[in-house]
Amino acid sequence: MKRRKFIQNASLSTFGIAAGTSLFASKKNIFSSEEKSAQIETANFPLVIATWNVKESTAEAWRVLQDGNSALDAIEKGCMVEEANAEGQSVGIGGLPDRDGNVTLDACIMDSKGNYGAVVYLQNITHPISVARKVMEDTPHVILAGKGAEQFALSKGFKPVDLLTDASKKAWEEWKKTSQYKPIINIENHDTIGMLAIDKNGDISGGCTTSGLAYKMAGRVGDSPIIGSGLFIDNEIGGATATGLGEEVLKTVGSFLIVELMRQGKTPQQACEEAIGRIIKKNPDFKNFQVGYIALNKKGETGYYSIHDGFSVTKYHDGKNENIPSDFYEK
Ligand code: GLY
Repeated sequence: MKRRKFIQNASLSTFGIAAGTSLFASKKNIFSSEEKSAQIETANFPLVIATWNVKESTAEAWRVLQDGNSALDAIEKGCMVEEANAEGQSVGIGGLPDRDGNVTLDACIMDSKGNYGAVVYLQNITHPISVARKVMEDTPHVILAGKGAEQFALSKGFKPVDLLTDASKKAWEEWKKTSQYKPIINIENHDTIGMLAIDKNGDISGGCTTSGLAYKMAGRVGDSPIIGSGLFIDNEIGGATATGLGEEVLKTVGSFLIVELMRQGKTPQQACEEAIGRIIKKNPDFKNFQVGYIALNKKGETGYYSIHDGFSVTKYHDGKNENIPSDFYEK
């Protein structure tokens, strides 16, 4: 079984967790396993989990948590590591540009009190996650877009930066030779960074940061900065975040769906599988795009699932920072 190690957690029955009736009856019967309902990945908190192989980001978030800081601080600092990594071509500096050669960034952050802040179509600023936090904490609004978001960031002391690196410019110039536009599964084996953390008090926050689809149309905004799609946190229940083709996550409000499924008693794993099932059921074209979800509940249990092979998560808990391949639907 190419997936994380499940540990039998007998005490779960005392929490009344049951398999429930799946909304998605898969031909592959991925949701009906009674065994699965009794198998839960156990974890103590604090804990941080992120999409893809981003060990340096989770290490930074873990360090912040170990210092006794909030999940919110851990999320911001953890996401900033990947945003500053010029070699990552899907987040922050070095992100692949849109069709016109402009790097535009989307990000959001949500705290344990239900506060939320986001920036969309932000240019020339390396750390959209931090600007999103400032939107949340320093304005009466929840989303700032484009020039307004950039002006706000500059007013808060963020420095203007050219986000288009030589490598991304070269990739864009190569792309322009054919200008073919279609989503590429697991592009660079790394897409949006979504991160969830639970601190020592058991409070949950999350963040999501991306340069969006490579070579997208100018003005395109994906799921990542949109509350309920790319990220959702309800501190009574848990949180979820997404990576992959944002249009499909938006159409099914994936992260909110996962949190609501956990509210109904599903484990994080069952909820992620159900949300992927919702996309598959509604879109016969699912073979041509990737979506991956991660989820975390109030007990520090996690789940993750994607449509295709290649998705992975990085989890830091119990002093161990691990990159773990995700199970997936299309076998
Ligand atoms: N998931 C990132 C995007 O579609 O923009």
